[in-house]
Order: sequence, then structure tokens, then C-alpha cells
Amino acid sequence: MSREFTKVGVIGLGTMGVGIVEVFARNGIDVVAMEVDDAAVERGKGVLAKSTGRALDRGKIAQEDHDALHARVTYTTDMGDFADCQLVVEAVPEQLHLKKELFGRLDTIVAPDAILATNTSSLPVTEIAVATSNPKRVVGMHFFNPAPVLQFVEVIRTVITADDVFEDVKALAERLGKKPVIVGDKAGFIANALLFGYLNHAVAMYESKYATREDIDASMRFGCGYPMGPLALLDLIGLDTAYEILDTMYKQGRDRLHAPSPIIKQMVSAGLKGRKSGRGFYTYAAAGSPEVVADAQTPAEGTRAGVEVRTIESVGVIGSGTMATGIVEVFAKAGYAVTFVARGQDKVEGVLSAIAKSQAKMIERGRLTQEEADAINGRIMGATERAALGDVDIVVEAIAEDLAIKQDLFRDLDQICKPGAILATTTSSLPIIDCAKVTSRPGDVIGMHFFNPAQIMKLVEVVHTVATEPDVVATVQNLCASVGKVAVTCGDRSGFIVNALLFPYLNDAIKMLEANYASADDIDTAMKTGCGLPMGPFELLDVVGLDVSLAIQKELYLEFREPGYAPAPLLEHLVTAGYLGRKTGRGFRTY
Ligand SMILES: NC(=O)c1ccc[n+]([C@@H]2O[C@H](COP(=O)([O-])OP(=O)(O)OC[C@H]3O[C@@H](n4cnc5c(N)ncnc54)[C@H](O)[C@@H]3O)[C@@H](O)[C@H]2O)c1
Repeated sequence: MSREFTKVGVIGLGTMGVGIVEVFARNGIDVVAMEVDDAAVERGKGVLAKSTGRALDRGKIAQEDHDALHARVTYTTDMGDFADCQLVVEAVPEQLHLKKELFGRLDTIVAPDAILATNTSSLPVTEIAVATSNPKRVVGMHFFNPAPVLQFVEVIRTVITADDVFEDVKALAERLGKKPVIVGDKAGFIANALLFGYLNHAVAMYESKYATREDIDASMRFGCGYPMGPLALLDLIGLDTAYEILDTMYKQGRDRLHAPSPIIKQMVSAGLKGRKSGRGFYTYAAAGSPEVVADAQTPAEGTRAGVEVRTIESVGVIGSGTMATGIVEVFAKAGYAVTFVARGQDKVEGVLSAIAKSQAKMIERGRLTQEEADAINGRIMGATERAALGDVDIVVEAIAEDLAIKQDLFRDLDQICKPGAILATTTSSLPIIDCAKVTSRPGDVIGMHFFNPAQIMKLVEVVHTVATEPDVVATVQNLCASVGKVAVTCGDRSGFIVNALLFPYLNDAIKMLEANYASADDIDTAMKTGCGLPMGPFELLDVVGLDVSLAIQKELYLEFREPGYAPAPLLEHLVTAGYLGRKTGRGFRTY
């Protein structure tokens, strides 16, 4: 029979501890909450009161349940008060010596059958366990931040944890409304092992000034639908905690990509630990406040001084595929006159009928009227000759992803387009400078990387080469805003912001599966319910297509020569076998 948990202890009332107290107390379990001193107890109490107060205000909890929740929590600075707890969860700072010392003491206080759990994100649970006289009763119980919100819990089973111990902890997590997964004792477990490489990479991008903090964060929110950008998430996690996690992961796996980016250490040393200290990558209204306030790095509104934007009234689009069709629709809907060029009359008709189909759907849903659709269509003109683009203010090309074909096009556009017209490419992988250099006006050439479906996805990566003129960048940024898109700006290198951050993480997930550390289902669950991502990595890979994913990963590897970016052999094998994802009915999963 599994253990009954009626009274548990929580040590440390910081970022995680308070949330864990709330989870237990909300579910009818008595909690003894311990901190180092009275001041820390008061701080923790205050944070809990705020969190439950918010729930009360929003009607998510009734007054009497709220009061009962608080009545279940007792506070202490004396570990002796854990004597009759059936489980103690530790959430003190991520330092091995501290945790070992605590567990050694706890071991002498709690009953022989009580369970000791650590909320460590990365430290070896086995080492913490052997600091006690009975390592069999020690497990990891890794909650995610914010603990009351995120459903995922990793239950870490060491080689010595007794079966009934991790089974009982798993059952308890289920009783708390969580989705627990049992995993082995490896630094970072599932979620952090995959998350922190990505977070560290985002910091490196920021540190090297490849893009601004706002643009890096906006990229992942609007390009991938993530609930937060990586730098804002690091501020929430706490930079000191993040540093320790990366450091532990690096020391265990010696993967250079986990070596903490130098700036993290510098920020921690300077006391910039993220939200909890009021400043990290961003500045907050106060310590602990989620409200971001402007600081010296906040970009100024409007166009940069001294830069005059070009006038854009008419837009040319080249291509007849999914992206081109979406882009035509985006510009026409925003009121621009659009001329698109396709390779034949049948292709012109194809684009127009795809647009009509998409409009019909919107009309059906009441999002568009027939009059509006007619007005939009009145602004769209299809052509089969590039010469039709002689007068447009900007051309956006979305033809085949092949350098020779694109270079031919840019040579043509250079002859056809009027002086001052901007020449943009939607390439996701080719160097834009290679398109620019075949024209006589490389300063006018720029990348406009839309996401699929262009009508819906908010993000556009505005990619400047070493030659792009500042007024061209500013004009395209403004143009994006005028069609309701979020523009982020970055340099001309493989993957830009989104793919460079996304694909190495997906590749890491494949390597984790290949190493049999966790199943595809568990990994997808971890990233969806632990990190709030809209899709798990294997779901996403199957949607994107494994051939496309492999090609992107290969390019990233070639450009950066990072050993960690080498495509996972399993990905190559699946592609070779023709298992390309949903489109072929089989990828990581069978459809
Ligand atoms: N921050 C996250 O997003 C996150 C997520 C999951 C797990 N974790 C893990 O949770 C643990 C706690 O991290 P955090 O971010 O909450 O840290 P934190 O710095 O916000 O809080 C730690 C708290 O522990 C208290 N403390 C220190 N020594 C103590 C002692 N001897 N007895 C009692 N209390 C003591 C501190 O006063 C502080 O309030 C770490 O192991 C971390 O890796 C963190």
C-alpha cells in the first residue's frame, strides 16, 4: 500500500520553495515551511500571500479555501519541526555542499520511513542521497517554475532509490494534479538538459550583440509561440541558479554548449540575478516584480535619428508557392498595391484561387466581409513577366531555395527595378550577401524572413548584410509594422535568430532519445508541461519535416562548426529511410 502524505516539510522559501508550499497546501496537505531566519520567513510568507491573493482576486480560489490554505502552513526556522513530516522537499540554492549538509541533518530528524526529496535542477541526486544513512529513501522531486502553474514534475530515481519511494512520490505528484515522469539521475534531467543549451545560446547571441534582448525574446515568442523569450525566462529562473545548472551540466557532460556564457557569471557577481533582485537582462519595477521598466537598453520609439525611410506604396512579390501566396495576401490586406509574378498563367491563377479560398474561410468565420475581400483583390495584380515590377517600391522574392536560381533573379531585378527600390529575399538559409553581390546595388538588398503561414505568424526576421544601407533596414522595419508584423533585426548568418536557437535544441532532443534516457512521449510532455511550449520537439519535428530539419541542422553545423550541432545520427537514418514526418505518414511517430 502506498504511503499517505498528510504533512510535509519544505526547506527554503525562495523562487521555488514558496510555490511548492502553495501546491501542497492547496491540495489539503499540511506544510511546515522552513527558512534560515525570521526575515526570510517573513519574505516567503509575503510572497505566498501575494500569490494566493492574486488567485483570490481573479476568482480562482474561494475565500474559505484561501484561508484554509494558509491555515495549513506553519513557518519555522528550526529543522526539528520536520520530525513528524512524511516527506521533506528541499529547495535551497543549487549548491551541492549545502544540500548534502542539509540532508545529513534531516536524516537524523525525520522518521525512518519518511521520504527526503530534493528539488535540484541539475545536481547529482545520488551524491545527495549518500550523504544520508539511508540513501534508499532519497529522490528528486523537480518542480517547474512557477510551481503552482506548471504541471510537469520530474521524479528522479537514483540507482539506490527504493521502488516504493519513487512510486509513492509519483502518486503524490499525480494527486497534486501534476504530470510526473520518472527519470534517471543525469544533470538537467529531461527538461533542463534540453532547455539550458538553448538558453545559454540565447545569452551568447545577446552577449555578441547579434541581436538585442528584445528581438531575441520576441523571436521565440512570435516565431515559435513560446510563452516567454529566453532572456526573460532566465530572469525568472534567476541567473545565479541558471549559472549553477549550466556549470553542473557542463562539468558532467563536457559539452561546450553548456559552458555558461561569461556574461552570466559577471551579472551574478554584480548582483543582477534577474527578477528576484529587480534586475537581470531586463530591469523590473522592484525586486520580485514581474513588471519590466525601461532602462538604458530599451530601444527608442520610431526611426533612428538621421535615417530617412523610403516611401513604400507598391509591393512586388515573386513566386507562387505557400510563402509567396501568404505574403501577397499580407501586403494587399494592409492596403498596398501588390504585383506578383509567377512562372505561367496557370500559376497566377493558382495563387489567386488560393487567396480566394483563404478569404472564403475568413468570410465564413465572420472575420472578413465580401466587400473587404473585393477591395483586397482589387489591389492584387498577377503577371507572368518580371518586367511588371519596373515601378514597385519593394520586391519580396519567395522562389526556390537555390542560390543559382536566386542569383539569376537578382541579376534580373537589378536591370528591371527602378533606382531606390528595395530588393528583399525570404530565404531561410542562403547567405543574403550572395544575392546582393550580383546586383549593382547591394545596399538595397535585405532579408525579410516570414514564417509559415505568413498570414498568421507575427514574426519577420529583418536580415541585413554587411552592405545593407541603414535606411533600407529602417524602411523594412516600418513596413513590417505597417502590415501588423513584429520585426526583429539581425545579421546575415545561418539560421538567423529563430532557427539558430530552435534546431540545435531539437537535435539535442533526438540525441536524448537516441541515448534511451527518455521516450519521445516523455520528452514531448516535459517540454510542453514543464516549459509551456506549444509543441514537444518530436511533434514539431514531424510537422516541420525531418528532411527540412536535417538540412537546417547541417547548415548550422557547417556555418558554426560546433561539434554539438552535428546532426543526430538517428535523424539522418530516418531521413534515409524516407520517414520524413507527417507528410509521409511516418517520422518519429506513425500517423
Ligand atoms: N528557479 C527555478 O526556476 C528552479 C526551477 C526548478 C528547480 N529549481 C531548484 O530549486 C532549488 C531552489 O532554487 P530557487 O531558484 O528557489 O533559489 P532561491 O535562491 O530563489 O531560494 C533559495 C532559498 O533557500 C533559502 N535557504 C538557503 N539556505 C537555507 C537553509 N540552510 N535552510 C533553509 N533555507 C535556506 C534562502 O534563504 C532562499 O530563500 C535549487 O536547487 C534550484 O536548482 C529552481
